[in-house]
Amino acid sequence: MVTLNDKYVKGFVEQEELTALKAFVEVAHQNMHSKTALGSDYLGWLDWPSKMDEAELTRIEETALQIREKANVLVVIGIGGSYLGTKAVNELLGSSFGFGETEIVYAGQNISGKYMEDLLTYLKGKNVALNVISKSGTTTEPAIAFRTLRTWMYETYGEEAKERIFATTDKTGGALRKNVDANGYVSFEIPGDVGGRYSVLTAVGLLPLAVAGVDIRALLKGAEQAEQELQNADLFSNAAYTYAAYRQILNSRGYSVEVLASFEPSMSAFHEWWKQLFGESEGKQGKGVFPASVVYSTDLHSMGQYMQNGRRMLFETMIRFTEDQQNSQIPFDENDEDGLNYLTDKTLHEVNMQALEATALAHVEGGVPVITLDVGKIDAHHVGYLTYFFMKSCAMSAYLSGVNPFDQPGVELYKQNMFQLLGKPGYEKKD
Ligand code: PA5
Repeated sequence: MVTLNDKYVKGFVEQEELTALKAFVEVAHQNMHSKTALGSDYLGWLDWPSKMDEAELTRIEETALQIREKANVLVVIGIGGSYLGTKAVNELLGSSFGFGETEIVYAGQNISGKYMEDLLTYLKGKNVALNVISKSGTTTEPAIAFRTLRTWMYETYGEEAKERIFATTDKTGGALRKNVDANGYVSFEIPGDVGGRYSVLTAVGLLPLAVAGVDIRALLKGAEQAEQELQNADLFSNAAYTYAAYRQILNSRGYSVEVLASFEPSMSAFHEWWKQLFGESEGKQGKGVFPASVVYSTDLHSMGQYMQNGRRMLFETMIRFTEDQQNSQIPFDENDEDGLNYLTDKTLHEVNMQALEATALAHVEGGVPVITLDVGKIDAHHVGYLTYFFMKSCAMSAYLSGVNPFDQPGVELYKQNMFQLLGKPGYEKKD
C-alpha cells in the first residue's frame, strides 16, 4: 500500500550500511511491540486501529451527525497534535475549493488578535459548533481561544450554546476536563497512552473528520491494514523501517535536512502534520533530521533552485500517488499556437508523474538523494494507511537515533518564559 522505491537513493548509501542497521531495527521492533521501549507508556497508537472500540466509534459518528444537523461551521480549537492531523486529512481528502455541508475552521493554534477578530467576524450569522481538543487540558493557546469562543457562543446562543460545544480531552486530568464536567458538555476521551502527534486516528481526529464528511471507518481500515502489514521486524521487507533506516544513514552522512515533496497541492497541510510528527519526535539531545517540505510544481519555481544548486545537506522524500483518479485530458487545439498538441494523448496525471520523474533525476544529479514513497491513490483508506506508516517509521527512526519519540521536553522552556513575562502566579522571576 505504501511502497518505497530506492532507485534514487541507492547511489548515496552502501548496502552494508543498511545491513548494519538490521539487528538494531529488530531489537527496537521487539521493544516497541512488547511495550518495553523508551516512552512505552505512549505506545497505545501501535494497535489502536484494530482495537478501537466499536461503541465509541458509533458514538463519534452519531455526534458528528448531530453537529452536521445543527452547524455549518465547526471550529476545532487545538494546537500541535490536537489539530494538525485533522487539517491534514481533511484538506487532502476534501475538494481544493470550498467544502462539504459543514466547514471546519481552526482556532487555538496561535494567540493572534487579528486571527481571532477575523474568525469572530467570519462566524457572525453562521450556525456554529465548537470542538475543543486538548489532551493535557492546560495548554494556554487553545485555553485562551476556548474562553473567547465559549463566551461568544453563550452571547450568541444563550444556554443552547451547551448543546453546541464538544470537548475531546483526557479522561480525568486538566482544566478542560473540569470545565466539561462543570458544564455538562458532550465529551470524548483521548487515550492516556496516545500522545498528541500520534492521535489523529482517535476521537481527536475522528470526530471533526466525520463532521467534515470523511469516511472515518475507511480511514481506520486503511490504518489497520498498515498495522498488520508493518508488523514485520525485517528492515528490508518492512517499508516503514526501510524508510527509517535510510533517514538515519543519510543523516549520519551529513544529509541533515529532509524535504518532503508532493506533487499534489492538497498535501500542504499533510506536510505540516508530518513535520510536527518527525520534528517533535526526533529533535532532541542535539539530534534529529530537520523536516521541511515543498509542493511541486509550485515550489519548483521557488525552492526548486535551492534544491538543485544550494547547500548539499538535503535529501528528499517524494510522495507519488500512482493512480490516475481524474483522467483529465489535455484538450486538442487545431491551431496549436501554444505548441501543446504533443501532450493531447496524455492526462494531467501522466504529465505530473513525468514532472516527478524529471525532478527526481535532476535532483539526484544535483547531489540530492531521493526516496520515493508510492501510495496508490488519494482516498480515506490509503490516507489512513499513510498516516500509520509515518507514525511507525517515525517511532523507529527516533529509536534508531536513541531518543524517546513521545516526549517533547523542549516545548516547555518558551512556556515558562511566557508565563514569567505575563506574571502568571507561581512563575515569578527568582533573583
Ligand atoms: O504532539 C504533542 O504531544 C503536542 O504537539 C501536543 O499535541 C500539543 O502540545 C497540544 O497539547 P494538548 O493537546 O495537551 O493541548
